[in-house]
Amino acid sequence: MKKNIGSKLALYPVPITVIGAMNGAKPTWTLAGHLGIIGHDRVLVSLAAPHFINGKIKQTKKLSINLVDEALLAKADYVGSVSGNKTDKSAVFAWERGEADAPIISDSPLTMECSVEDIYTTPNFESFICSIDNTYVAEEHLDGSGKIDYNTLKPVLFEFPTYHYLGTGDVIGKCLSFKETQSV
Ligand SMILES: Cc1cc2nc3c(=O)[nH]c(=O)nc-3n(C[C@H](O)[C@H](O)[C@H](O)COP(=O)(O)O)c2cc1C
Repeated sequence: MKKNIGSKLALYPVPITVIGAMNGAKPTWTLAGHLGIIGHDRVLVSLAAPHFINGKIKQTKKLSINLVDEALLAKADYVGSVSGNKTDKSAVFAWERGEADAPIISDSPLTMECSVEDIYTTPNFESFICSIDNTYVAEEHLDGSGKIDYNTLKPVLFEFPTYHYLGTGDVIGKCLSFKETQSV
């Protein structure tokens, strides 16, 4: 029998991301690991309500979700350590404006540009429910048929319980390829 350690957030590891939003003519960036997938056409970004970026997301109704690889990790970690309430983080990353106007980190291997459709509030948190306008992928991470190649794209992972970053492992099997009936 496994030991019951109580009510814990334990759904890790998850990809760590940098969330971007426009702050007037400049971007602002915030590190976030608490994201989710809802159905096949929505994603959720959960941000503490006092964060600087929340107000900018609410003003523009746009945000970007930038995956982080090891090369980008130091800068990504930094934007999780200081708040735009006190520090201008606009110059941390090279960036460009996406087709839907959200800021895109040039060196991120993959960026999703999103529109905010709804905000789900829980105590002290705002979860932005987003549709996906565009997905930008570094060409070296696309396979011959134009699909994202997770053999080469290695997003850094994050776990909250002990607050560490983890590497991504190898591709270990094709979904629905384990046909044999398994029983104990
Ligand atoms: C590894 C890591 C993961 C984080 N994940 C989240 C998250 O999912 N949601 C959140 O609200 N804050 C998260 N944070 C905290 C924010 O990134 C941090 O408080 C940031 O300074 C807020 O910036 P802002 O006030 O400019 O928006 C995380 C921080 C770290 C270091």
